Amino acid sequence: MATNTQHDAPSPTTDAEVRVLGHLINGYRITDVPGRVVASTNPARSTDVLATVALAAPETFLQAGRAARAAQPGWADVPAPVRGRVIAAAGRLVEANKEALAALVTREVGKTYAEALGEVQEVIDTCDFFLGEGRRLYGQTVPSEMADKELFTYRRPVGVAAIITAANFPAAVPSWYLVPALLCGNAAVWKPSEYAPVVADALAELFIRAGLPDGVLNVVHADGPTTFDGLDEALEAGLVDKIGFTGSTAAGRSVSELAGRHLQSPCLELGGKNPMIVAPDADLELAVEGALFAGFGTAGQRCTSLGTVWVHRAVHTDFIRAYSRAVEHAVIGDPTSDVLYGPMISEAYLHRYQDYLDLILPHHTIHGSTSTGRITHANPRERFVGDPDAGWYAHPVIVDGVSQDDALYATETFGPIVGVGCYDTLDEAIELANGHGYGLSSAIYTNDPRTAWRFARGVSAGMTSINNSTSGAEAHLPFGGNGLSGNGSRQSGVWVLDQFTRWQSVNWDYAGRLQKAQMDTAVLPADLDFRL
Ligand code: UN1
Repeated sequence: MATNTQHDAPSPTTDAEVRVLGHLINGYRITDVPGRVVASTNPARSTDVLATVALAAPETFLQAGRAARAAQPGWADVPAPVRGRVIAAAGRLVEANKEALAALVTREVGKTYAEALGEVQEVIDTCDFFLGEGRRLYGQTVPSEMADKELFTYRRPVGVAAIITAANFPAAVPSWYLVPALLCGNAAVWKPSEYAPVVADALAELFIRAGLPDGVLNVVHADGPTTFDGLDEALEAGLVDKIGFTGSTAAGRSVSELAGRHLQSPCLELGGKNPMIVAPDADLELAVEGALFAGFGTAGQRCTSLGTVWVHRAVHTDFIRAYSRAVEHAVIGDPTSDVLYGPMISEAYLHRYQDYLDLILPHHTIHGSTSTGRITHANPRERFVGDPDAGWYAHPVIVDGVSQDDALYATETFGPIVGVGCYDTLDEAIELANGHGYGLSSAIYTNDPRTAWRFARGVSAGMTSINNSTSGAEAHLPFGGNGLSGNGSRQSGVWVLDQFTRWQSVNWDYAGRLQKAQMDTAVLPADLDFRL
């Protein structure tokens, strides 16, 4: 079974002196903030320190917000096609630095180098898509109900966007927000994950070098509570017009409440408990291959990672046998090697994941590895590559026998754990797919078009795959969730433009007298009593 294609990862350079990162505000890197100093370390080798950063205070947010507010009108005045050229240059710079940026992603968050290259490619694809949008950003001409009057619609930038992103996609997901926000003429304050400040700094540097004027893109490194307070103060001071947030459902709810108090609707991408249905007629080998990558790629740390496989009772035994075998045989370990997955993003992610293992109950059967929990020399895994004690690695777990009553059914576990349960009818499978209230991604394996399309219509997720993984959204399709996974806002493609622009209607009356809408409109008589 194919895992990842082999790539030669450039060996990470460990600086003799650890870099000190700054907050990027108005074109300057500011290091003298009073906050707690944190170190960004390599989760595959925890003694490898990439950089340190003094985390921001709420005041740092205000500073960044003021810089963005001051820079935004000038940036909006730059013609959109010219802004598009800046996005084009950003894409070319990211492409020219693809291997270096991917190596940083691997080193900072432990994603396999093959997946890290894919992640950087997603940034390039996003720039490629939006550079052309600079020459479109279409509005409409609309006929007026009166003579000598023209109607038009325009997309106007919202102003300042505060973008808060997670560590699991430290480059691609930020670009989904930043690229369209900037292209549309907004300025941004980006708060990357405190677990991925080095990737954030590198990506911001590439964007700045593409020609963004000072203050248009600002980066503030902060922890969650400070971000919330800083956002609150910045909203109160009128410095933020739009929030983009990727993270947990609980944090998204708080951000949404805060935004709502200011009559704003945030762009949210939240958690998932993504189902995969394996129908009785499915190609089981294909389904196992899909479930292996969907559940265990990225160590299960994608919002789109597989939560539970619902297998038709008739093929359950065959599926679980093949799936267990595939997971047992998967190579795990050093993310610069050809492995299915590397370490968890950080020690904290590992600990949180280990707590979720308590959701495994006596009526469950577990498969997939020689043990559960952290992989160490004392708690080993066969076919492990590298030194397990040096990093934060977790055993993969398949939990068979999951039912709708289990807490595992409705809990996002963000790690290498996949539940498996049985269903009998397609209606039951759809109910199981939707019943927990999440709605980000989903998948079905079947060769029957009726089954595939009835499922696609019935599932409440924002994304569904037919005979493919729950993960792997493409950069030009709408991406986002419903229910506990988001508020229906969509990123990517043309759909995200509605997040970062507001429609303005313009009318131009050249009649030379006041024409009143609804009152001064011509009426042509109709004979409504006429019958054939
Ligand atoms: C996320 O985990 O926040 O579809 C997004 C995918 C990726 C994006 C995941 N392109 O898995």
